[in-house]
This record gives sequence, C-alpha cells and structure tokens, in this order.
Amino acid sequence: MALRKENILLVDDDLDILELLQRHLQSMDYHIFKAVSVKQALYILKDTFIDLLITDIQMPEVDGLQLVRFADEHYPDIPKLVITGYPSVNGALEVFKSGATDYLTKPFTKDELKQAVDKSLKGKIRKDAPKALTIPHKGKGYAEMIGSSPAFQKITDIIDRVKDNKATVLIKGESGTGKELVARAIHYSGTFSRASFIPVNCGAIPENLLEAELFGYIKGAFTGANENRNGFFQAAEGGTLFLDEIGTAPLSVQTKLLRAIQEKEITKIGSRKVEKVDIRIIAATNSNLQEAIAQNEFREDLYYRLTVVEINVPPLRDRKQDIPLLVEKFVQKYGIEYKDRLMGISPDALQILQRYHWPGNIRELENLIQRAVIMSDGIIKVKDLPDHLKFQIDFPDTEFLPLKEMEKEYAKKVLAHVDGNKTKAAEILQIDRKTLREKLK
Ligand SMILES: Nc1ncnc2c1ncn2[C@@H]1O[C@H](COP(=O)(O)OP(=O)(O)OP(=O)(O)O)[C@@H](O)[C@H]1O
Ligand SMILES: [Mg+2]
Repeated sequence: MALRKENILLVDDDLDILELLQRHLQSMDYHIFKAVSVKQALYILKDTFIDLLITDIQMPEVDGLQLVRFADEHYPDIPKLVITGYPSVNGALEVFKSGATDYLTKPFTKDELKQAVDKSLKGKIRKDAPKALTIPHKGKGYAEMIGSSPAFQKITDIIDRVKDNKATVLIKGESGTGKELVARAIHYSGTFSRASFIPVNCGAIPENLLEAELFGYIKGAFTGANENRNGFFQAAEGGTLFLDEIGTAPLSVQTKLLRAIQEKEITKIGSRKVEKVDIRIIAATNSNLQEAIAQNEFREDLYYRLTVVEINVPPLRDRKQDIPLLVEKFVQKYGIEYKDRLMGISPDALQILQRYHWPGNIRELENLIQRAVIMSDGIIKVKDLPDHLKFQIDFPDTEFLPLKEMEKEYAKKVLAHVDGNKTKAAEILQIDRKTLREKLK
C-alpha cells in the first residue's frame, strides 16, 4: 500500500530558513506547507490535515509560542516542534508549558532535524484521522469543503457513512459544484486515506489509450508497448480510483469497467493473467446518465453497479446559504496568496454575490473572488465586481411581477447605478434613449 507522505507545516518569518527547512524535509519525503506568520499558519491548520507543526518562536506580531498554545488547545493531536535560538533552562520550560512536544536549538544539522521530526511523528497515532479532518468553522466542514446549508449537511452525512467502507459511489452534479472535492473528502477522511487517491478524467484520455491507462499492458501487447506497465487500477490498490466524467467512457471500456467492479479483477492488455484488485471506486458525472442509457450510450448494468451510493451535489443557486462562508474562505485564501494580508468584503458586495444565480457554480464564485482580490485594496467593494453581476435582476422570491414592471424596475436600477446618466444606462441596456424613457414611464 502506498503511504501518503506526512504533511508538515513550517512556520517562520525568515524566508531563507523556511526554504532551507523545506528542502531538507522534502528530501526526507515529507509534504511541506509553509507559513510566514502565525496568522497564515492558522488558515492552513484550519483547512489542511497537518501531521506535524514546526514553528520558530521569535516572529513579529504574534509569536510562535502563542501558536503552539492555540494549536495545543484546538489540535491537541498534532505534535508541535519548536525551533528556538536562545537555549536557556527557563526558555525550555516556557516551551514545554505551551504544549510543545519537543524543541530544537539553532543552529542544527539536517540529521538533528531528522531525528527530532522522526521522534515527534512517532508519538502520533492517527486514530483520530477522520475527526481531525473536520475543520472548526461556523458551518460544518470536511477537509477543504465548507458549507452550512441543509443540502451541504446532507452531503457530509453521506460522506460520513461511506468513508470507511469500499462501497462504490456515484457523484452527480453540474460543472463546478465540487464533485471532485467530495470524492477527495471521502478518501482523505476515511480509513484508507493513507493509500493513493487516483483521479482519472475519462473524457481527457483518447479512447484508444483509455483502456491501457486504466488496466495497464504487457510488453508487446501493441506497437509501442516496450515494457510491462501498470494502469490506474493497480496504482490505486488499497485506496480510491476516482473516475471523473464517467459518462464519456466509451462502451468498450464500460464493459471492462463493469467486470472490474463486479468481479474485483482486471486483466492487463495483452495478458491472460487475471489480477485481483482491492480498491474503492468513486465515479462522477455532470451529464444525465439515464438519458445516455436510453440512447444506448451508457450501459445500464454498469450504472447500477456504480450507484451503490449516490451523492447529488446541488447547484450553488439551490444552496445560497453556503455563499457567505464560501466567499469568506476564498477572500481569505486569495488575500493571503496575492496580497499577503487579510482581506474583507463589503456587505453590499456580498449581497450582490448572494443574489446571483452562478451558472458556473462554486468554481465561478472562486474565480470571481480571485479576480476581485487582485483588483481591490483591502476590502472588496461593489466596484470590484464584474458588470454582469452588478446589473442582475433581483427576482423576488415570493411575489412575481409582470414583465413590464420588471423591465421598469431593472431600468431604474441601472439608471441609479450610473448616477442618472441616461446615455450610459441606455448603453448598458443596449436600447436607445427614447426606448429607455418609455420603459421608465
Ligand atoms: N464546499 C466547498 N467548499 C469550498 N470550496 C469548494 C466547495 N465545493 C467546491 N469548491 C471549490 O470549487 C472548485 C470546483 O470544485 P470541483 O473541481 O470539485 O468541481 P467539479 O464538480 O468536479 O467540477 P467539474 O464538473 O467542472 O469538474 C474547486 O476549486 C473547489 O475547491
Ligand atoms: Mg471535476
């Protein structure tokens, strides 16, 4: 079983030291997250499963010991290794009182670092893995997923039920709703998280290669097969194979998939040897598979094999309650990434985001915030949002208006936005000024 690399969070305001530590630890095969401040470290802790925290003490603003104290309280299972420049008996006492598991005195060698890391990680048992993935938040969260709507709650409930077994799961939802994130949450929060999660986009691999990529081949099976090769099925052994856009898999491959899922065995191309596989399959689709079945483009028997458990990820417009949390998350994420600081959003800008219908779902929201963060300084305001959002029609939820009324309301709204300038308003509405005057009557 392929082991997942451990995640280590490094916190130091000195970029050179961060780089150096990163290089050392990466050469020991750890996966590194870096933070230059305590604030940034907190965001990473909130969203990521961290196996070990390594922090410097002396940092501007908030010092490392405060971080250790906070982590001790909120993430008691994460071992905490403190790096200190000033060895003294009192200092060491302080360090341990804060909840640190161990400390390293500067300067240290790569070997000393390795020993300290090994020791810290050894004391850690991942019995808490699933629970620890749930991030503390206003809503309920799973790994990187957040939300507070009943629809989101329903998804996390299903994840809870399937994460520790190997039942096949089919995730349905429009593009950008978070299907892949759901698949990752199932894998990384469950019992098999240390084995691999292998995503395969069935639509992106040419038909003639897909079978070879999935099941592997033996030397000489076809021209160009110069060696034996494993496929994604073997790579996912013990873990999860994520078949994205399953609706695009050609019928020939569907037949083989059916057998692989049903019998839990596969055969490499060109080989006669049957290999047992022990994996969980999660498939996702944004197309209507039932329709594809009716048109003989998708095998009905495969469909039933895949839908042992079904998760429907609703479009964002049907769970608008999640929008504020998502906005907050993306504003924080991109604020730190692009502006190196905490950013906010004005209430009226947020209101506009909550009204929009989001055809591209969460991906569209994320891209939009990313852009707005770049365009704004500090607080995202209405002016930082694209025009098509600012002028959207505010459909009342309960009361429906005649089209004429609605047109008038909308024209008034656009006019107000351009400070009563009729020429500009007419331009935006793509009508002439005379028509505009009539509409406003
Ligand atoms: N609940 C959530 N909380 C935070 N971020 C989310 C959530 N759901 C989705 N996202 C983010 O939205 C983006 C789109 O998600 P994802 O790629 O999982 O969607 P998808 O349904 O697989 O889309 P597609 O059908 O286009 O492949 C990603 O950047 C993801 O991190
Ligand atoms: Mg996807």
